[in-house]
Formats: sequence, C-alpha cells, structure tokens
Amino acid sequence: MQTIKQASLLKRHRLKPCLPRHVAIIMDGNGRWAKKRHLPRIAGHRAGALSIREIVRLSGELGIEALTLYAFSTENWKRPRQEVSLLMQLLKQYLRSEVEELKTNNVRLGTIGNTADLPGEIREELKKAMAATAHCTGLRLILALSYSGRADLTRAVRDIAKRVAEGKLSPSAIKEETITQALSTKNLPEVDLLIRTSGELRVSNFLLWELAYSEFHITKTLWPDFRTPHFIAALKDFQGRQRRFGGVESVVGSVIKWAR
Ligand code: FPP
Repeated sequence: MQTIKQASLLKRHRLKPCLPRHVAIIMDGNGRWAKKRHLPRIAGHRAGALSIREIVRLSGELGIEALTLYAFSTENWKRPRQEVSLLMQLLKQYLRSEVEELKTNNVRLGTIGNTADLPGEIREELKKAMAATAHCTGLRLILALSYSGRADLTRAVRDIAKRVAEGKLSPSAIKEETITQALSTKNLPEVDLLIRTSGELRVSNFLLWELAYSEFHITKTLWPDFRTPHFIAALKDFQGRQRRFGGVESVVGSVIKWAR
C-alpha cells in the first residue's frame, strides 16, 4: 500500500509511482571531491558518508525495497594502509552513529561480501547494528563490504559443485535460479537500477550476475555531492526507460510492490 507520505513525496518530486524495487550504487569520486578542495582523501569519504545518510533516508521514505551500496571492494584493500584504516574507522563511526536513525526510519541493515576479512571491531559493530535493526520492515540497506562480484560467483559455483559431488543435485537440474539462489544477494529483489557517480563507465566487479537486466544511470556528480536532487534525477531517468528484458514488449520503469 502506498502511504500518504509516499504519495506526497512522489508529487513533490514529480515522480511517477513506478519506482525501482532495488537500487544499487557505485559511490565513486570521494577522492576527487577532496582533491578539488585541497583536503585529505578521508575528508571526501567523510562527506560521502553524509550522502549515504541522505540517500538511505530518502529511499526508505519513497518505499524503495532495497538499496545496495558498494562501500568497500576487495580491490580497495590495495589502497594505502592509512586510507584503509581511516575508511574502517569511518565505517565504525557510521555504524555507531546511524543505528538510531536507521531504526527511526525502519531500515534493516545487511551486508554482502567477505565480512570475515574486516577487523574484529568492525564485525562486532556490524553484528550489533544488524541485530538492532533486524525487526525493521522498511528499506533493506545492504552494505557491500570486502565485496567482489567474481568472488561471490566463485563461492556460489563451489557451493553448487559441492552439492553435485554429494549427489544432492544433478548437473542437469542446475538452472539460472540455482545460481541466483547461491549468491549472497539471494533474498533481494532483482536490481532494477544501478547508479554510478563520478562519470566512470565501469562495473568494477560489482553485482556481475545481478546487473544482467538493470538500467544504468551514470552521472558525473561526485559521490559527496550526490544528494536528493541527483537521486530524484536518477529515478526520473529510470522511469523514462523502456525495459524489454531482451524481448520486444516494453515495460516502462519498474514494479514497486504498491505500483504493480
Ligand atoms: C570511492 O571513492 C569510494 C569508496 C572507497 C567507497 C565509498 C565509501 C564511502 C562513501 C565512505 C563512507 C562509507 C561508509 C559505509 C561509512 P574514491 O576514493 O575511489 O574516489 P576517487 O576515484 O575520486 O579517488
């Protein structure tokens, strides 16, 4: 059911009701944002955390079901030790300071990626924040942490192969859905919209299987500058797309629960 608040938000931003169910974002450009201001890179990441706060809140208010944010890739471990350590500190602060905000906005936190790679104190904070928001029924906020699309697919293939070796699954019974269900995104809706900030035209090892039919919105805006008007522009862009999913019949926009 669409709430009065959602209806008034749609009206205020001149959005149609057909919103993406699942939005994924490659948050890029924090370093360039800081460089332009002669600030250390961490200042860009800090400002980026404020964009996260705004976009999470808005996504929840609009009734989007899932928002997956590429917060730290497996490749990001190659950054200078000091930057990695400051990013981890920022993540810890974010988790501590945002839990109340997430609860107030009925947002349930989850993760994808190899979180076992993260420092113990971050794993602890994540555990606490996920437990504290486990009862929330609104937006699902998924942080991709130490995430790699190829690694997730490799792990999924290994799990499937194990089931085959144990005689629990026949090779001929392996369908696309078997792979979808073996990935860490298995309980999430299809990704309808991928947003990438800072203008790079790459997928960067993010959600490789899941992006098969997603619409892409690439903006030159750097992530720390990406706020409500930019997100609304991305949603409008999405709503103007003719989605054919490889067929000839077009579907405009997508399929949020109450708009189907
Ligand atoms: C890339 O900017 C961004 C990241 C490394 C991931 C996003 C991280 C944040 C928004 C920081 C806060 C995160 C949380 C979850 C609190 P970049 O450094 O690659 O930018 P550049 O390409 O301009 O150098």
